[in-house]
Amino acid sequence: MRPLQSACALTIFSSLIVNLLAMSQGAGQAATVSLRNSVGSKLEVAKHGAHVLTWSPGVNEESVLFVSPAAKFGPQDAIRGGIPICFPQFGPRGALEQHGFCRKNNDWAIAKQDEKSVEFELKDSESTRASAWPHTFQVNYLVELTDEGNLATKMKVKNTGSEQFTFTCALHTYFGVGDISSTSVEGLRGCEYEDSLQGGKVLQEQEDAIRFEGEVDRVYGPTPQGDESGEDGEGTAEIEIKDQSHKRRICIFKSSSFPDAVVWNPWIEKSQKMADLPDDAYKRFVCVEVGAIRQPVSLQPQQEWEASQAISVKS
Ligand code: BG6
Repeated sequence: MRPLQSACALTIFSSLIVNLLAMSQGAGQAATVSLRNSVGSKLEVAKHGAHVLTWSPGVNEESVLFVSPAAKFGPQDAIRGGIPICFPQFGPRGALEQHGFCRKNNDWAIAKQDEKSVEFELKDSESTRASAWPHTFQVNYLVELTDEGNLATKMKVKNTGSEQFTFTCALHTYFGVGDISSTSVEGLRGCEYEDSLQGGKVLQEQEDAIRFEGEVDRVYGPTPQGDESGEDGEGTAEIEIKDQSHKRRICIFKSSSFPDAVVWNPWIEKSQKMADLPDDAYKRFVCVEVGAIRQPVSLQPQQEWEASQAISVKS
């Protein structure tokens, strides 16, 4: 073998070893796939739920994603933090359990992997066919570290059966912030939202900046559409989290097939009721969840749908 080939082989072999170790030992308490790019960005995805757990855009930076110190990683658990995938049902909007079965599913398989991306795949199984959503489907979820260190995700759903189905979904991202009281979410002014704390009452956002002084639980949509030149290049819209204590902005770009965005923080009382969240942990995160929620997506047999999210951090 020539030196370059052997160096490449060694690199591939060592990255496989790193990943195998990560898969078998589990970073934290879950079997994970770890990716790292040449500029030192890194992320970890748990195979359980194809759940992104951590993402650090730069060398020695802490993860931008919040994971609860009391999160549970058992085979039946929904991990509190990171990026849970809500599919085929968002929240309680259907006959399935809250947020659907994907986030707790252990049947996700790795379809493809290279040094900067991993693609997971989930197909219907005996247990999903026995659920209140018994359809034949395939979900592919691509998680990628871009050359700039951004986190890009793409979700594809295919109806592999012979009957039409509908679904709702979201990428339920928990963003870490220094202090929720000096955090705001921007980019939703003028947008209609359902306020879950007022029984889904439909209101219109009047503020440039959504601030947090108590529990917030809203489904915004359709959110303002961006232009075709957005960061992931496909009709993206941008929502920003301004985190004054970390002196940074988290920019969330979403494709138009994720027309909605949930803004959620449980505040004190709800946190106290959640066994997998310390009582004061609400101070350290905000969820901004891009999704297709208010208007369910309908797929004919063999039809496909795809949507993407890209996240970057600016100071
Ligand atoms: C949000 C919902 O998406 O998820 C909230 O809007 C809900 O109503 C929150 O409380 C957390 O849900 P879960 O099932 O992970 O506790």
